[in-house]
Amino acid sequence: MRTATLPLFEVAPVATGAREDLAPGACVLRGFALDIATTLLAEVERIAARSPFRHLVTPGGKSMSVAMTNCGAVGWFSDRSGYRYTQRDRESGASWPSMPVVFAEIARAAASTAGFEDYAPDVCLINRYEIGTRLTLHCDHDERDRRAPIVSVSLGLPATFLWGGLARKEPQRRVPLTHGDVVVWGGPARMRYHGVLPVKAGEHPLAGARRFNLTFRVAR
Ligand code: SIN
Ligand code: FE2
Repeated sequence: MRTATLPLFEVAPVATGAREDLAPGACVLRGFALDIATTLLAEVERIAARSPFRHLVTPGGKSMSVAMTNCGAVGWFSDRSGYRYTQRDRESGASWPSMPVVFAEIARAAASTAGFEDYAPDVCLINRYEIGTRLTLHCDHDERDRRAPIVSVSLGLPATFLWGGLARKEPQRRVPLTHGDVVVWGGPARMRYHGVLPVKAGEHPLAGARRFNLTFRVAR
């Protein structure tokens, strides 16, 4: 038995590359984006130079603490008129920056590893969390096609992901996420509630005092 288990420990001593199931249709792929994290962050910078991070206003008139931008054919947007996808960045007046090939590729590979083949996202919402920033419990319901999963890539400072049920009141599990982790939720888990606890103070060698999150969706 000892010889049979040894290679496993050699390959995954700190669980990088491990898959943790959260629920049917949902899992965390530990370190899945680690190898290309530097490239992903450089692309985030390039996108933000064209469509800067901004604090969107909720339909209720509150400014969101997470700063957001997008790339892809459409972008997620919110103002007094509601949550929706727009074809143009309302601030720049231009179309959203196109989705970098590396973004589409990592999202497709993660989805496939999680059991969702042929994933072709048309939007990547990019969240920027400063220290103390949180994302309240919500489910992603602004997409027309809910057969496709959500693929979520964590970069920079660690955070605690809240993983809830299909109803807001259901208890939530606390899932630690670090740089390079990817979470995928689709199928029966697609409409699960989720959120992020306030990001704790820290300094990440590549991202500084920030956490970034890329969430891929099929919106249209
Ligand atoms: C989201 O739900 O849009 C983002 C989740 C995260 O930042 O991990
Ligand atoms: Fe979300």
